[in-house]
Amino acid sequence: MKQYQDLSLKGRFMGRSLSVINDFSLDELWYLYRKTEKLKKAVEDKEDLSPFKINDANIGSYLVFVEPSTRTKESFLNAVKFHNIKTNIFDAVTSSFNKKESYADTFRMLTTYSPYSLYIIRTKLEGVTRWLDYDLGMFAERMGICKPAFINAGDGKHEHPTQEILDEYSFLEQLNFRRDRIHIALVGDLFHGRTVHSKADGLRIFHEVHVDLIAPDELGMPPYYKHKMEANGFVIREFDSIENYIRQEKIAPVWYFTRLQLERMGEDILQHVQRLTRSVTFRREWIDSMPEGCKFYHPLPRNREYPTIPVFLDKTSLNGWDLQAMNGYYTRAVLVGMLGGRLGEDFRGKTPDLTKKKIHYIEEVRDYRSSKKEYKIGTKPVENGIVIDHVGKGEDIPTIWEHIYKTRKILGLNVVSSHGVYLSHKDGKYKGVLSLPDMEQFDLIKMKKLAAIAPECTLNIIRDSLVVQKYRIHFPPKIYDFDEISCKNPDCISHPDQHENATPYFYKTEANTFICKYCDKEHNYKDIWDI
Ligand code: CP
Repeated sequence: MKQYQDLSLKGRFMGRSLSVINDFSLDELWYLYRKTEKLKKAVEDKEDLSPFKINDANIGSYLVFVEPSTRTKESFLNAVKFHNIKTNIFDAVTSSFNKKESYADTFRMLTTYSPYSLYIIRTKLEGVTRWLDYDLGMFAERMGICKPAFINAGDGKHEHPTQEILDEYSFLEQLNFRRDRIHIALVGDLFHGRTVHSKADGLRIFHEVHVDLIAPDELGMPPYYKHKMEANGFVIREFDSIENYIRQEKIAPVWYFTRLQLERMGEDILQHVQRLTRSVTFRREWIDSMPEGCKFYHPLPRNREYPTIPVFLDKTSLNGWDLQAMNGYYTRAVLVGMLGGRLGEDFRGKTPDLTKKKIHYIEEVRDYRSSKKEYKIGTKPVENGIVIDHVGKGEDIPTIWEHIYKTRKILGLNVVSSHGVYLSHKDGKYKGVLSLPDMEQFDLIKMKKLAAIAPECTLNIIRDSLVVQKYRIHFPPKIYDFDEISCKNPDCISHPDQHENATPYFYKTEANTFICKYCDKEHNYKDIWDI
């Protein structure tokens, strides 16, 4: 591996990955958009393009398309060829993926073929590039080679960040690169469409964002992305059909259509295709209601049987989608230039904030009364030991029992003890209590585990029948490192049925739900557990 150590990561974007649009800061995205504008102009003006080109055969690019693609694949293929770098097209159909080889094994091997590798990956499986970015980062460290860069070229119904980049670039072009305000209508299959999910963050490039969501209930935007839009300060309105949207006065000058992703729908929804399609398909009689300068966009492909933008609109001024598709080539050429180390040295601005705010979720309670001999083991008061109180407080009795059994099993509390579900006389709510006499220590690591297993409980340390220390154990900001948790999205790379060995990892939201690190699926706390 010595030969690979000579290539030091010179460019400031080398080794970075783009799994979701937020992997780049707003300043970095703005840099990419302005560079794209310059590249387009340089091409139009027939200028020397060498300042944009990588021109380095040490850099190996791999296009790995496990799901069909025309635009993304071909625009990336042209983009990497523009840079004169080593270009490989991975044949997923004949690869050992079909002999159940894992993604991690495959990419570890490919990574040893070039001093620096850049992967462009499309999969049905969600969260692949985030997992590979982590796994291959460790592999590169072990092998003493450069960490590769990964670009998510669309993963299942999760995200499509490079489509998001070309979409935002196209909106900016329409708005003469003014970032102060955008009013946009998102129309079509907002449930399955990953390109509209990416908009919950991508539209933050604009300072004021008004979003009109137009979709029947069955195809509505998932609550997670709607909450994200709200948290990002977007003003949201919802309509169940274009017909109802057209009836009101504030019609957006930017429309973004998506196709109905019939291949991802269940039989129950497919029965209603005609009705669903009709509600999000534009009709000729509405053309005159469109505001001046209005443009329609679409990530393409259009479904030739059910096009939400009918072909009679192709020759009208509403057609923004053809230029949008062309922008895919330019924005991707700039992205490859950044990750390949050619562009980025003149970047000034903020990088993504990776420092996580320290959250204190284990709180020592100072002002409690310790005079009462309150805890018992059976009928006998606990003289010395630990009592875990308020387990699952306020939940139903079976759920509280689940918390108790889970706590005992995962923390290995195979000691003399008693436990039960009791009615709290203070507020009439049920709670679980575990009494662990003779247990002297309950260290911080165990308390952190307890926070994940039985959040919002209290832990009491008893000496001579009195509580001498009390801790309130709150929800932790992340839950990981447990054999008993898993993402429940069957299409996630970390789902157990995928056998990819991606370690399950969840982040807590403000609403005390948990988001999978790989696929962003939102789980209720209870659902992340397998026991
Ligand atoms: N917009 C888009 O992702 O198109 P392809 O599926 O053809 O790549």
